[in-house]
Amino acid sequence: MGGDGEYRAYHNRCTHIGHRRLDPVPGTNTVQCCSVNHSTFDCCGEKMAGPARHSIKSFPVENDQGKLIISIS
Ligand code: FES
Repeated sequence: MGGDGEYRAYHNRCTHIGHRRLDPVPGTNTVQCCSVNHSTFDCCGEKMAGPARHSIKSFPVENDQGKLIISIS
């Protein structure tokens, strides 16, 4: 969940050569690569910083009375 209360889903792989895992950055609406280069993406998957080649794919999330539905097609 982002700081705006919305749920978001994204493909959890950096688009840099290592394709490493991304983790939320506390206190921000960003996720960051676990590698030493720390490519950073905003909450919609857009690349903000680092050597990643492009943005990450994000998926729409619907909150149906507390049941989260993620559309991955
Ligand atoms: S694999 Fe993410 S910055 Fe290199």
